[in-house]
Amino acid sequence: MPTVAPPLCLASGRRPHAFRSTVPPSQDPRRSNERHCDSAFAPGGIDAPQRLRSLTVIPRDGAAATHTAVQHSCPVRPLPLLIGKARPYIARMRTLPFGWTGRPVAIIGQGTWQMEKDDRAATIRSIQRGLDLGMTHIDTAEMYGSGAAERLVGEAIAGRRDEVFLASKVLPHNASLQGTLRACEQSLKRLGTDRLDLYLLHWPGAIPLEETLDAFERLVQDGKIRYWGLSNFDVDDLERALRIAGEERIACNQVLYHLEERAIEHALLPWCSAHQIPVVAYSPFGSGGFPSPDSRAGKQLGTIAAAHGATPRQVALAFLGRHPDVFTIPKASQPAHVEDNARAAAVMLSDDDIRHLEVAFPLGMRPASLPMI
Ligand SMILES: NC(=O)c1ccc[n+]([C@@H]2O[C@H](COP(=O)([O-])OP(=O)(O)OC[C@H]3O[C@@H](n4cnc5c(N)ncnc54)[C@H](OP(=O)(O)O)[C@@H]3O)[C@@H](O)[C@H]2O)c1
Repeated sequence: MPTVAPPLCLASGRRPHAFRSTVPPSQDPRRSNERHCDSAFAPGGIDAPQRLRSLTVIPRDGAAATHTAVQHSCPVRPLPLLIGKARPYIARMRTLPFGWTGRPVAIIGQGTWQMEKDDRAATIRSIQRGLDLGMTHIDTAEMYGSGAAERLVGEAIAGRRDEVFLASKVLPHNASLQGTLRACEQSLKRLGTDRLDLYLLHWPGAIPLEETLDAFERLVQDGKIRYWGLSNFDVDDLERALRIAGEERIACNQVLYHLEERAIEHALLPWCSAHQIPVVAYSPFGSGGFPSPDSRAGKQLGTIAAAHGATPRQVALAFLGRHPDVFTIPKASQPAHVEDNARAAAVMLSDDDIRHLEVAFPLGMRPASLPMI
């Protein structure tokens, strides 16, 4: 039987320790908390004494907010989210506390892998449009285009750095003590910033983890990074990292997770939840392998999407985000795709929808090792 998480503390926005399980959305206290407080937009941030909810609605063609609805004291009232086909506006992104850090982070962010291969102007517009829509978690890496993706992100966020929850990654073969410090400096330079919000080890490598984590902690102390995390770490790797670093140091684990690859649900996701470590789901659309609308599962997805007046991709993101500790980072180099993805934050799947999707896209057996791209 899954253990249902205790409610979030409304004062701190944090969950008490040791939350585990996959909880249906209707019983999920984190989801119900979303309906009460959108603290990212509360003056003073998450710990503001007087909580306000602000829903900013953005016109399709511009960045300027046209309407802000402010409600006092978090009344229990459905958000005026605009679900349906003929929506002239896009509701602003929702944020949730990023695990033990408590930092409000957009539930849907933006990936940047291979972006440097796409039309540059459109790609920059896409990232900026994403920021307009609150998709402020931007994920990049020194590996992507050998630094070209970081340069592109730097250009896109120039003058808007404070809006962004900026994440980059060090390659395992660079992740020695000195190598990590050097790699971080180079990433900062390419990104045109003096700090990262999140710095990840891209995958487990041969360099002793102690060295990498030592470097991460020094970077935190020097104000070069706010938090550090891991990527492609399975449970045994995470156990090792936890033994080295202790609780409330690992800010996230970024792993492969999409409709047709749900392996993390077996053990990794429950382990992360138990330690209040959020999971960042990469390749949430299967990295180019999105289910065909003609396949049996794709038809089921299409039916659920139609019932919500949503697109299949929006339903896919909503499905992954059904778990309170999962954040997604779809990559989109086309502004229309970014807008489509942003709207997924307004799609609330029912327990029945989720059951049907779990049947259409079965979990399968636990693989011997963590799947990764
Ligand atoms: N830590 C790791 O090891 C790791 C590994 C892989 C990926 N990642 C991260 O995760 C991010 C996302 O994964 P990904 O890039 O592999 O792939 P993805 O997000 O699963 O899929 C990207 C593809 O979906 C298309 N797309 C996006 N939104 C769409 C929409 N609304 N309608 C139709 N098509 C849409 C994109 O097209 P357009 O670009 O043309 O818009 C692109 O072709 C990466 O960019 C990267 O930041 C991390």
